[in-house]
Amino acid sequence: MASSGPCVALINGEHCPLAEARVSVLDRGFLFADSVYEVIPVYDGRLFQLQAHLRRLQSSLDGIRLNNPHTDETWSELLNALVRANGSGDLALYLQVTRGAPAKREHRFPQDCRPTVVAFCQPRRNPSDAELEAGVSAIVREDDRWNRCDIKSTSLLPNVLASDEALTAGANEALLCRGDEVVEGASSNLFAVFGDTVVTPPLDHRVLPGITRDWVIGLAAQHAQPVTQRPVSRTELRQASELWLSSSTRELFPVTRLDDEPVGSGRAGTVWHQYRGWIQAALQSAS
Ligand code: PDD
Repeated sequence: MASSGPCVALINGEHCPLAEARVSVLDRGFLFADSVYEVIPVYDGRLFQLQAHLRRLQSSLDGIRLNNPHTDETWSELLNALVRANGSGDLALYLQVTRGAPAKREHRFPQDCRPTVVAFCQPRRNPSDAELEAGVSAIVREDDRWNRCDIKSTSLLPNVLASDEALTAGANEALLCRGDEVVEGASSNLFAVFGDTVVTPPLDHRVLPGITRDWVIGLAAQHAQPVTQRPVSRTELRQASELWLSSSTRELFPVTRLDDEPVGSGRAGTVWHQYRGWIQAALQSAS
């Protein structure tokens, strides 16, 4: 169900219209990207995998040495209230925690400064079967991000530039390489199919531990078809019969063109269809 509700934001515990939501220019999220974030999908008013997102939020906050401003229980109350204020429906909930807005701009951590908590919702549209079948295109490029990509930080300029490069090349995603290894997309995790083996790059400091990645790996295990977690080389990427992207806003999306060459048949592949069936069944039973 698409949301037709109002756009309401949460700023430090208060609701206000998103267009009127403001934070200070001294906020360290603005000045230093000194902040972390989450994007949580909402299906028909229900926050999906909330506990997993809150666990990753905690791990990102630990990574930047910032105390969590809320307990999981309070997060759940705040975020569910925000979803209701936005008319429920199918949404993507964005939340960000910054180190706050001290009186002075300086690099060192401020003392006695409360974190800023911002959240808002945007409509999320489920792709049509035809869109999924056609898939998206991707380019391959160097990964020039920092070395803590396991932290979901808002230092996203390299991701933004890579996405723009993809768009300029007529593609939808940039697959990022460190040396000969493909690690993930600019805003997604990567899966590759070789024969009947599904492979995804292993988690380390170069990869965001995607909630969708983890969920998909779990679904495959439940169906006794474990995903192999191992490095994928640039050369192998071109030999894959199927490539998929995973993210909270895109679920599991086929990549059917890579650097202007078709991937496999150039359409969503048979293994993807099998996974899609598992995903739809899991979403159905969660609703
Ligand atoms: N991005 N890798 C990167 C670099 C990402 O930015 C994302 C998601 C993922 C997938 O993670 P998850 O399955 O938890 O959404 C992997 C979000 C959607 C964004 O920045 O908008």
